[in-house]
Amino acid sequence: MDLSQDLLDRLFAEALRARAFAHAPYSRYQVGVAILDEQGRIHIGANMENAAYPQGWCAEPSALTAMIMAGGKQAKVAVVTGPGPDIISPCGGCRQKLREFSVPEELVIIAGDPGGMRQRWTLAELLPHSFGPSHLNF
Ligand code: THU
Repeated sequence: MDLSQDLLDRLFAEALRARAFAHAPYSRYQVGVAILDEQGRIHIGANMENAAYPQGWCAEPSALTAMIMAGGKQAKVAVVTGPGPDIISPCGGCRQKLREFSVPEELVIIAGDPGGMRQRWTLAELLPHSFGPSHLNF
C-alpha cells in the first residue's frame, strides 16, 4: 500500500483526536487509534476503562468495531498513540484482534505519542507465527 506522508499525517491526527475521547480515569493512560481500511477510510477508537477494572477495553478493539460497523473488512494501517515517553506497544490481546481483520505481513502498525509517530512494524513482526482464521479450515 502506498502510504503518502499526507495520509500518515491524517491518520496520526485522527489517532490523536480519538485519544481525546479516551475514558481512562484509573490508569490515566489515554490511548487513541486510527485504522485505515481496505477502502481507504479511517476509523477511530479510544480505550474505555471501567470502575470494575477487568471490564476495561483497549483502543484497538474500539477502532476495529467502528471499522466493522462501517463495513470495513481489512485493516491496512493502524496508528496507535499513547501518552509517551515510552513507545506504546499494542498489547497481546489487541495484536490478536488485529490479526482477525488483516494480512499480518501487510498490516502496518505505527506507534506514536502526542509529539509524533515514533516506530513502525508489521503485525507479522509483532505477532509472529500467529493463529488466524485459516487455522479453522482443517
Ligand atoms: N491500552 C490500550 O488501549 N491499548 C493497548 O494496546 C495497550 C493498553 C489501554 C488499556 C488501559 O485502559 C490502559 O491502556 C492502561 O493499560
